[in-house]
Amino acid sequence: MPRYESIINKKTNERCNRGYKMISKTMEEALNRQVNREFFSEYLYLSMAAYLETISLRGFAKWMRVQAREERSHALKIFEYIVARGGKVTLGAIEAPKAKWTSAGKVFEEVYAHEQKVSGMINAIVDLAIKEKDHATFEMLQWFVKEQVEEEEQALEVLNQVRIVGDIIGHLFYIDHYLGKRE
Ligand code: FEO
Repeated sequence: MPRYESIINKKTNERCNRGYKMISKTMEEALNRQVNREFFSEYLYLSMAAYLETISLRGFAKWMRVQAREERSHALKIFEYIVARGGKVTLGAIEAPKAKWTSAGKVFEEVYAHEQKVSGMINAIVDLAIKEKDHATFEMLQWFVKEQVEEEEQALEVLNQVRIVGDIIGHLFYIDHYLGKRE
């Protein structure tokens, strides 16, 4: 091992051994898992964007790309938090997302269900923070709790619009035009 690396590792171990690691191993693992799930969300939404491009709903695809970018920022927010608390970020393999759907409606049903699932994951880490009396992580996670309310609301709003217009192509393209404005 290069000298620099061995000095740093020694110092890191000393830091941890002296109790300066400010999150528990269990919390570190839970946060690392969430980093992975946020990157998976980015991947899933990019896959949805790719599908929506194939059915010429370019505005829907743009909306999905912006959503994917947000998911990446969620992953990096937790990444930075783990580092700030003296933890170790461990990146695992990202699961391959589904690649095909049968309509824009089916895509948004899945977006909504996925966001509900993510809310459940965030809530489970909040429960862990409460159990461990980890106030800093609890506080950091409050941003995600609020964000999930918004994420679910946005997904449901588009899903309802698509449900209302059904298969009327003209109306679907109107929604497509509107969604394409998302920055
Ligand atoms: Fe990062 Fe859409 O949850």
